[in-house]
Amino acid sequence: MEDYSHSLSQTKLNFSGDTPTDKSKEEVKIRPLLKWAGGKRWLVPHLEPLWQKHSKSRLVEPLCGGLAVTFGLRPNKALLNDVNPHLINFYNQVRSELGVDITMENSKESYYKNRQRFNDLVKEGKWKSKEAAQLFYYLNHTGYNGLCRFNSSGLFNVPFGRYKTINYATDFSDYTQLLKNWKFSSGDFSTLKIRQDDFIYVDPPYDVEFRQYSADGFTWQDQERVARWTAELSVPTVITNQATDRILKLYKKLGFSLRIVKVPRFINCVGTKRGPVNEVIGMKGV
Ligand SMILES: C[S@@+](CC[C@H](N)C(=O)[O-])C[C@H]1O[C@@H](n2cnc3c(N)ncnc32)[C@H](O)[C@@H]1O
Repeated sequence: MEDYSHSLSQTKLNFSGDTPTDKSKEEVKIRPLLKWAGGKRWLVPHLEPLWQKHSKSRLVEPLCGGLAVTFGLRPNKALLNDVNPHLINFYNQVRSELGVDITMENSKESYYKNRQRFNDLVKEGKWKSKEAAQLFYYLNHTGYNGLCRFNSSGLFNVPFGRYKTINYATDFSDYTQLLKNWKFSSGDFSTLKIRQDDFIYVDPPYDVEFRQYSADGFTWQDQERVARWTAELSVPTVITNQATDRILKLYKKLGFSLRIVKVPRFINCVGTKRGPVNEVIGMKGV
């Protein structure tokens, strides 16, 4: 998993908007909110020139994950969607001024107590709460490898992470204004209502061609479905993925112009034992 905490914490984001507030006049240092598999911060320099021509558009990320790209492109308007409802609850709660009033401790005992509490909230149907959002943040930082995994009953089942030290956030106020400019939704990408002033960036879980099982439950049929859905939109679109043979074939067949970029060494730890796999950027109407 990409650890982008160091570099993002160096990034200064301006809370841009048409009528800046006092807070938005300052440049505020933004640290990453969550650890998230598949973050594409490293790809931002390649995406920025494509986005710049459309930067007055609404940026739509139908599979938004950890928001590394959205933070990198800094749109004024955005629609950010993910199938993971707990992730979206967390962002929505940050938008409406999430504080920290649970105990965040990096110990096994505390972790399993908080995991149990989070799962109790899920069972009671109270997962759309501020408490669940704080617990989600805590579990994300304290659990094994920042994984986000649920059992078939929808209960979080990632084991304790054994990190030496963790710097937990004490509040999320630096993010509130930024996220307020953006809208969040949770569901399958295909449910989104796309507008004529949209620019779409699609970043599905990687295609892992040489494994029998699917990555994160995202099957080859899902890869085809998301690529087809993207190709049929009549607005500028960019789609990225691992440049496997079948992805290149699929994107080409659907009419995307393709650019291949080399994945930096520190990212490319995908265990295919087949050496580094490049990244493909598919573009339509950009
Ligand atoms: C590679 S990550 C996106 C990373 C993001 N672009 C970033 O740079 O931080 C892919 C995301 O797709 C989401 N996802 C998987 N299936 C989905 C679906 N059917 N509809 C919407 N989101 C989905 C996953 O939950 C995951 O967060």
